Amino acid sequence: MQNYITLAQIDAAAQAIKQRILIQPIVGIILGSGLNDLADSVQNAVHIPYSDLPNFPVSTVQGHVGRFVIGELEGKPVLVMQGRIHYYEGYTMDQITLPVRVMQRMGIPSMIVTNAAGGVHPDFQPGDVMLITDQLNLMGMSGLNPLMGPNLDEIGPRFPDMSQPYDRTYCDLARKIAKEKGITLREGVYAGLSGPSFESPADLRFLRLAGTDAVGMSTVPEVIIARHGNMRVLGLSGISNKANLDGSTITTHEEVMEAGKVITPKIEKIIRGVLHGL
Ligand code: HPA
Repeated sequence: MQNYITLAQIDAAAQAIKQRILIQPIVGIILGSGLNDLADSVQNAVHIPYSDLPNFPVSTVQGHVGRFVIGELEGKPVLVMQGRIHYYEGYTMDQITLPVRVMQRMGIPSMIVTNAAGGVHPDFQPGDVMLITDQLNLMGMSGLNPLMGPNLDEIGPRFPDMSQPYDRTYCDLARKIAKEKGITLREGVYAGLSGPSFESPADLRFLRLAGTDAVGMSTVPEVIIARHGNMRVLGLSGISNKANLDGSTITTHEEVMEAGKVITPKIEKIIRGVLHGL
């Protein structure tokens, strides 16, 4: 059997963080590609590079800094992941979801997850923000579920329910805030693929037929782990590019990073509003 992460390894990382902070975060926030600037708004921040933590993978992607920023946002104690770790970097499912396990062992009850995504819904435009209402676990359907291996009974059940990956109350709150702030908030289903290649036109037509509104290379494993431990989750996708179902344009990482500049202020407003309302 493969080596899976143990509770002791998770707790070692959680303890290493706890020793360096004085607050108890109530929300874990994961920032996606091009959205890392949000962490700079955290006040009274303590920075902990992933490389300081035992058993932690390190993000290798351009645009992903690779540290925890722990402090206050809207007066609420938060733990922000500035730079997430992706499966395509060559880490295991256990490694990429370790930060969520650490949140759980730190007693953090809620998670806000953000990502950059390709807009598959024909109406979506680059720069849009989409509230994730459900997800397609394509990685899991091909055998890459982050819950494979011995179940961590102390955190959750062997066969966790996944009927409500994204918390309905949080969704309502996000809708209300977007309306108040005059932000157009799209809604839909996020499909998680491993990447790192972008999708072919046939991939995209298949995804659309399956009900996908936005596609990306993260989030789904993290949300499964979060729900295993019964965390409440809010998910926001920044639409960085229009997925091209007929192959007439190309998609680049630079374009994804560039779109982040338009998307970050909108996502920041929504996150601040949600935190304020908690
Ligand atoms: N596909 C997959 N992941 C992405 C995309 C995309 O078009 N844009 C940003 N992340």
